[in-house]
Amino acid sequence: MANFIPDEIVSEVVASTDLVALVSNYVPLKRSGSSYVACCPFHREKTPSFHVSGDKQLYHCFGCGVGGSALQFVMAAENLDFPDAVRFLADRAGIRIPETTDESNDEFYKKKRKIYELNKDAARYFHSVLFSPAGRNALDYLTGRELSIKTINSFGLGASLDEWDGCLNHLLSLGYDRELIVEAGLCIRNEKNHVYDRFRGRVMFPIIDVRGNVVGFGGRIMGGDGAKYINSPESAVYNKSKQLFALNMAKKSDRDYIILVEGYMDVISLHQAGFNCAVAGCGTALTQEQARLAARYSKNIYLCYDSDEAGQKAARRAIEIFEPIDCSVRVLSVPDGKDPDEFIKKHGAAEFERLISGAYATVRYEIDNLFKAYDVDDIPQKVELSRRAAQIIAQLKNAVEQDEYVKYVCRKANISEDSLLTEIKKQRRRDSKKSLENEMRQVSSQSSPRRTQSGQASSRLKKAEAGLLAALLTDKNTFLRLSEGINAEIFTYDFHREIFTEAQKMAESDAPFGLSELSAAFRGREGEFSEVFLSSDSIADPKAAAADFIKIIERETLKKEIDQAVAEGNREKLSELLKKQKSLKG
Ligand code: GTP
Ligand code: MN
Repeated sequence: MANFIPDEIVSEVVASTDLVALVSNYVPLKRSGSSYVACCPFHREKTPSFHVSGDKQLYHCFGCGVGGSALQFVMAAENLDFPDAVRFLADRAGIRIPETTDESNDEFYKKKRKIYELNKDAARYFHSVLFSPAGRNALDYLTGRELSIKTINSFGLGASLDEWDGCLNHLLSLGYDRELIVEAGLCIRNEKNHVYDRFRGRVMFPIIDVRGNVVGFGGRIMGGDGAKYINSPESAVYNKSKQLFALNMAKKSDRDYIILVEGYMDVISLHQAGFNCAVAGCGTALTQEQARLAARYSKNIYLCYDSDEAGQKAARRAIEIFEPIDCSVRVLSVPDGKDPDEFIKKHGAAEFERLISGAYATVRYEIDNLFKAYDVDDIPQKVELSRRAAQIIAQLKNAVEQDEYVKYVCRKANISEDSLLTEIKKQRRRDSKKSLENEMRQVSSQSSPRRTQSGQASSRLKKAEAGLLAALLTDKNTFLRLSEGINAEIFTYDFHREIFTEAQKMAESDAPFGLSELSAAFRGREGEFSEVFLSSDSIADPKAAAADFIKIIERETLKKEIDQAVAEGNREKLSELLKKQKSLKG
């Protein structure tokens, strides 16, 4: 099923959102001239440099450089990806988003909505059972595992009755269709066409997606016979390989890493101890999708699997799964056969914090894994192993540490230290070239003028170009009317010229036209984009303003060219430029 949201709807959603009202839910805004200011919610600051423009519906922080439209704001503030940010704003504005434009899928979408509702009601029900006399056992079980009431509430934990139809009857009484209850996975229909509760006499863990929808449940037995956990089956709303338990909470964590653990109880216990960045799979081995999902929220991943054999095997597999994903994966080894839950209980949060900071030991772990993966008696494999080992070691900053690992690898692989050191040097050169390229890319993407020019004049020119863009982009009609006689070459800043050309393309097409749509075309550069538009004042008369800005641009550009001709000693060019200057003034 595609989750492509048509541009028209994205535009409608953004247009129905008032950025000023949205932002003021996160930070108090103060009026300042034609816009609003606040202390930036995305970086620490004492004096406000975060600006929100009501008429342009853009925000920009002149301190840290972030910016964009309501969509970028929600993406950053709620840590959502683009489609989820659209859905978030759509919910807020009461706009219904079809999952696809296809009508038959529209039915599917309606059903999903229904199941989300049903699941939420089921979660409420399980939670209330937990605090009823019939839930006494379950509550004792959870508090016996040292969970506080606050933790139980924040995870919405619950209990299922030890009956065949407790949940069924409750959901039927709320008016849900029997078929839907089965489809959601809360009940099972047997061969005799009899419908009964899937979860009976268990502690219930609701599984909630990043948007806050209840997508399924895990149910843990409290003793006796039977599987330790029963989980919801896959359904229209639940795809196990794409969910991470507690990611809805971890995405808001102020820690800059994610801890991936195996069990629901491990997650909950870590959150209670203050590690609110812990997540887990939902009863299946880690998948690529889950790894990508986690990496979207932080590039620093700590794997914390049980220290038993199965857990270690799972950790190795997880490392492989993260391999193609661009992030740093480290392994936390929990000593003496403990899982994180037991470890926290026994040694406390401070000790766990120490495990995290000590996770460098994973270099050894990664290297050991190379030796497991490659056969050193096979020459091509040995070459590959040393190349990979060099990659790992090249990242170590401490010389002694580096030395130790070089010795270690060379001894195990039976290669000379010289050859490994050569490989490491090569790798370092490659790495620094990469970071240099990144820097260059950053520098050149900042609106840099094509011609060299001195500070103040260049800022006047920059402002005039930004002002011209703001005037032109007042709305589609204004743009079509005023841009006709303007050549993109008038813009001396590459970024400004790009904006202009992009706007031309957009105006010629049938696509929705506006600043937020345009900013979407500059993915990853929304901050620069918003800076251009928030640097200028609001414009009352676009036509007059555009004419003024064009004059300033021509004058400033000409001055630069004259300076340059003088510097080059190009008399011919100079006299030509001076003539032009005269005619401009006249
Ligand atoms: P405790 O043993 O209560 O500490 O639970 P835990 O959440 O720490 O679970 P454990 O480490 O035993 O298992 C890890 C995860 O694997 C669980 O959270 C479940 O998602 C899943 N799992 C464990 N046992 C079963 C089972 O019997 N059936 C299924 N389907 N999944 C299970
Ligand atoms: Mn456990």
